[in-house]
Amino acid sequence: MRPGAVRSDVLETEPVSPQPTPSIREWWRHAVVYQIYVRSFADGNGDGTGDIAGMQRRLAYLERLGVDALWINPWYRSPLRDGGYDVADYREINEQFGTTAEAEVFIAEARRHGIRVLVDLVPNHSSSEHVWFREALVAAPGSSARGRYHFLDGSGPDGELPPNDWHSVFGGSAWTRVPDGQWYLHLFDESQPDLNWEHPDVPAEFEAVMRFWLDRGAAGFRIDVAHSLTKAPGYPDAGREFNDGRGTLDPLPYFDRDDIHPIVQQWRRVLDEYDDRMMVAEAWVAAERRPLYLRPDEYHQAFDFDLLTAPWSANEFERIIEASVRSADAVGSNPTWVLSNHDVVRHATRYGLPDGVEPGLWLLDGPHELLDEAKGTRRARAAALLTLALPGSAYIYQGDELGLPEAWELPPDVLQDPIWHDSGHTVKGRDGCRVPIPWDATGASLGFGDGPGWLPQPPAFASLSASVQDGDPASMLALYRSALELRRALLEHETGFELIDSPDGVLAFRRGPSFVCTVNMSGDSSPMPAGDVLLASGPLDDGRLPVDTAVWTRG
Ligand code: NOJ
Repeated sequence: MRPGAVRSDVLETEPVSPQPTPSIREWWRHAVVYQIYVRSFADGNGDGTGDIAGMQRRLAYLERLGVDALWINPWYRSPLRDGGYDVADYREINEQFGTTAEAEVFIAEARRHGIRVLVDLVPNHSSSEHVWFREALVAAPGSSARGRYHFLDGSGPDGELPPNDWHSVFGGSAWTRVPDGQWYLHLFDESQPDLNWEHPDVPAEFEAVMRFWLDRGAAGFRIDVAHSLTKAPGYPDAGREFNDGRGTLDPLPYFDRDDIHPIVQQWRRVLDEYDDRMMVAEAWVAAERRPLYLRPDEYHQAFDFDLLTAPWSANEFERIIEASVRSADAVGSNPTWVLSNHDVVRHATRYGLPDGVEPGLWLLDGPHELLDEAKGTRRARAAALLTLALPGSAYIYQGDELGLPEAWELPPDVLQDPIWHDSGHTVKGRDGCRVPIPWDATGASLGFGDGPGWLPQPPAFASLSASVQDGDPASMLALYRSALELRRALLEHETGFELIDSPDGVLAFRRGPSFVCTVNMSGDSSPMPAGDVLLASGPLDDGRLPVDTAVWTRG
């Protein structure tokens, strides 16, 4: 059978293990969520930036792909210093993207295509162009307007040094001084001042913003930097740099504090007033801390980012999968699977690098000859079948379904990610995974828009465009479509999951009585699992499962 082909009889049969349909309220437990980075998805008005009109035109594509929901990266009014994670107005759409009325129509239209829409909420910080921050800048030290942010006097004899040693995640100090001598906190770029969640206006405003979008039909929220929000009283020194390699795994006075949870519980009460809404946490915390965010009165889900950094190893994947399933289960949540997003080197490229090469460093320094593109694509295909067969929900980043690689060739003069600047040009940043989507093989931006896009696309994108792949049954797009179709038919209501003993380097698990996913992550071909082949990520040798290949079987 050719790779990506689905046996037609399979789709007409019953689920492998029929179980009561989960309540419609709990659609998120098994949802496939497609992440749209608006700026780079589809440009409807030819200004080089993606927009709501462009997304609207691609709804049929998304329905055909078979996703259940969209997560839209921040689309609010913003100077786009950090791609929209610097929000100037949480209720208005950025004018480059459209209008709030268009957003509302888009949400309803998506629903008619059977797709829910999650919006991105950024509660840890606003833009420095938010009206609150402007008010704070002209207000006196100690005023209530300053109290909505973290304004402090500096240290040193004349307050000329930052209040403490906290570092920005993007690089450099987390403090910037204003003309009257005080300093304000920004855990990210200086254009992203941290909000003070102890000021009563802040929780009240975010509750109102949540209702605003829920009332406009949003299915819920992806919550940005869900592990921050609150800061240790007295702003004690951290004693270490954020980017010292330990990241959020060791305690820091500004991340993963226990007093975050009452805030989350209040949000949950708001969501629970509506019928079937959900929120998913972007919480970069140690795996053992994640369940705290997933207690029944907190988040519905939290991203599991462990696969983003895992080496291509059956043992490692197995360990992560087992832990994630177990810990989500323990608190009545469900696991989530993420291979790429707008913050990391795309997995088709990550998987093409030799073991031990750190993708971020390679992006900056190369050598780029280390990249084995064919291996990366083969593994990306296998990883798609692996994650889409696992229990829980799967998040697909736009372009994953086309097998897009990282645009590592971007020259420094086009880079827009603030990390490039804030790190003093020591980290290249995330623009390479944010390049406009190629829809066609020709045109100034390969069908993204009428003219050039806001970032140049590498030449290889033409042959990976959606319209080229559309007619090719062996394409990544065909594989994703087949996998999503089969997943819906066979796995959507299947809660069973069991790892199966398998040869070294091979990962295998069963879903229900007869569905098995087997992934050969070893260096040699391995025995083919028994049963009928439903779908394979690559060509199958006679009787053997080739290296870097996944197969779904039944029987
Ligand atoms: C996480 C987002 O995913 C990232 O893109 C952003 O830069 C930071 N949070 C700050 O908002």
